[in-house]
Amino acid sequence: MAKLRFSLALFTTFLISLFNPNQSSTFTLTNQCNYPVWAGLLSGAGTPPLPTTGFPLQPSQSNSISVPTSWSGRMWGRTLCSTDSTGKFSCVTGDCGSGTIECNGGGAAPPATLAEFTLNGANGMDFYDVSLVDGYNLPMMVVPQGGAGGNCNVTGCFADLNKDCPSALRLTGAGGDGDESVACRSACEAFGDPMYCCSGAYSTPQSCSPTSYSEYFKNACPTAYSYAYDDGTSTFTCSSANYVITFCPTPANSRKTTGAGQSEANSGGISLAKAFSISSVIVAAFILTPAWRL
Ligand SMILES: *[C@@H]1O[C@H](CO)[C@@H](O)[C@H](O)[C@H]1NC(C)=O
Repeated sequence: MAKLRFSLALFTTFLISLFNPNQSSTFTLTNQCNYPVWAGLLSGAGTPPLPTTGFPLQPSQSNSISVPTSWSGRMWGRTLCSTDSTGKFSCVTGDCGSGTIECNGGGAAPPATLAEFTLNGANGMDFYDVSLVDGYNLPMMVVPQGGAGGNCNVTGCFADLNKDCPSALRLTGAGGDGDESVACRSACEAFGDPMYCCSGAYSTPQSCSPTSYSEYFKNACPTAYSYAYDDGTSTFTCSSANYVITFCPTPANSRKTTGAGQSEANSGGISLAKAFSISSVIVAAFILTPAWRL
């Protein structure tokens, strides 16, 4: 009897895991730069932790991780990293201050291109964007795959802004190669002016407008956030998707990889997969009920 009840519970769990669309998703981080990149990952406060908070990616290397339901946080690339004679690990761009390859809860030092996610947010949708609000350090693209709702658009910044970053924003390499541009700062970081930071008297969407500096980023990377209130053209939604994050994407692989995105857009109600999941549990319970009573 107890055994039977246990197997019923197991079977139900199995069914739920089979059909529940809100299971963990797979994030694949790929490095197409011709230099090594160290991924950095930061979980938002109160969201489940990730299996890793940082790892190296050699050119053309990929790494897939399982990201839990309802996770929110950021992912970025660190460049020009090395370990010093005392064993301390650090990076010229995107450093997270941990002194190790794992970031352990440390965020990216600006300037850094950021991929931001809130999974299973309002209406079960994933919200994602690529942000240059904290500046730019390398080209990055986010591609949702297999999503069922929302627009599931590819987003990111494909341009290499290190080469033509306005000189007032340019961050040049520390160490030997002093004049090589390694990242492009936000105007907020470069000048600290509330007008650029959307702070103080400029802390609302109405009072903080684009500036010539934010427009530089917007023109170069039209789908990325160029300043704090750039939501309209920079936030994207998808549901039940896996995500591929590519450092230094090339135009050939920046195309949308799924056509499924539009089919369930704005359906709002209970999804087909979810309805199926619930009904299979009910059916299973009915099938197993006579045996259970023995
Ligand atoms: C998503 O991409 C489509 C096709 O390129 C475009 O028409 C649409 O405006 C995009 N959606 C958003 C929210 O930018």
